[in-house]
Amino acid sequence: MENFTAYNPVKLIFGKGVINQLHQIAPQLGKKALVVYGQGSVKKYQILPQVTNQLALCGIKFIEFSGIKPNPRIDEVRKAADLAKKENVDFIVAVGGGSVIDSAKVISLAAKHDTDPWEFVIGQATPTQALPLVTVLTVAGTGSEMNNVAVLQNNQTQQKLGFRHELMFPKVSFLDPSYTSSVPRFQTACGIADIISHALEAYFGDGNSPLADKFAAQIIREVMETGLKLVNDLFNYDLRARIMLASTYALNGTTAIGRGNTGDWGTHAIGHALSLLYDIPHGATLSIAFPAWMKLMLNQIPDRIRKLGRLVFDDGCLSAQEVIEKFEEFFQLIDLPIRLSEVNLTKEDAQIIEELLNKQKATGRVFQLDDSMRSAIVDYMAHG
Ligand code: NZQ
Ligand code: ZN
Repeated sequence: MENFTAYNPVKLIFGKGVINQLHQIAPQLGKKALVVYGQGSVKKYQILPQVTNQLALCGIKFIEFSGIKPNPRIDEVRKAADLAKKENVDFIVAVGGGSVIDSAKVISLAAKHDTDPWEFVIGQATPTQALPLVTVLTVAGTGSEMNNVAVLQNNQTQQKLGFRHELMFPKVSFLDPSYTSSVPRFQTACGIADIISHALEAYFGDGNSPLADKFAAQIIREVMETGLKLVNDLFNYDLRARIMLASTYALNGTTAIGRGNTGDWGTHAIGHALSLLYDIPHGATLSIAFPAWMKLMLNQIPDRIRKLGRLVFDDGCLSAQEVIEKFEEFFQLIDLPIRLSEVNLTKEDAQIIEELLNKQKATGRVFQLDDSMRSAIVDYMAHG
């Protein structure tokens, strides 16, 4: 087992109606809030008024910043941070999924500095303070509600990058599974693939941590069992609650215990390139990229992949190749793409993807990828 540090200060408030506690907590954070959200779903499904009513109830003034896009851009973060400064807000309330929460995390840093926020993302500047952040999760998948990661896209520099900082842990996160019942089937499936991928990234991390292996595998089992039912029963509260919980615990540090790092993350680097180039939802990039990455690893770590099969599918007889096929079958069962052609990408696109991946030197932390490996992954994504 490797040495490791575990730290997670996020207060998680989980369950139906929990937003009603916001008026007790908000006054501890200040008198004026910036409420950040996406392109309108939280208004359409009546989630936003439940949040703002709570702020009004305890006399907190608030202004809104809307329009955060999926695969969020640094441009919006810059605008929102300027607004937060101009309006002198004391804290941020993010109402949405990973895109909104990630943006809000960086807004909370940028609002306290005169630095361009992209410099934080690329590690050229180090934040020293942040506004407190409250999150209200409305789509399960990323785990952003209980971690210190933000992933942002910069179309000018052609990058989609994640980074971590302790100042980006939310103070409090409200998780009401009923808020996710309006998430459409495809987006729900994308969240499911994201959760599985987070557990896989951790599983392929550094060091020998049998307990972490089991945590990761149990999360995958839980999500496969629940996800299969949920995509055909979208308004089932218990299924929504199980997926939301699994999503949060897949990327809050739990699956990284006893490891030297938080995981490999090479597949996410590949997925981010697909999102950057073609604006594909994050989860759908991973259902294509993860099987392809595992195929590349067949000869390098066959035993590790077979162990995964044993832990997830209770079948010690599966070959490594069969384990990968089982993951592909699951993604197909929930109608996610597993090949580039299923998201309408051609041979020419595959070439463009490979060029970008090589330009970015996309790699994992544990399993270093070179040009020929990236080429092989693209080939697996194209042809299986
Ligand atoms: O913009 P609106 O109108 O709100 O619509 C959103 C969006 O179109 C919609 N939605 C959200 N809540 C809804 C809803 N629709 C109906 N009912 C609701 N209750 O869902 C769509 C997707 O939202 P988004 O926030 O983009 O999804 P997700 O949570 O999957 O976030 C994806 C982003 O998170 C990053 C990804 O790279 C991607 O940019 N990630 C963040 C991580 C982290 N911070 O730890 C780790 C992940 O690996 C991931 O990279
Ligand atoms: Zn992810």
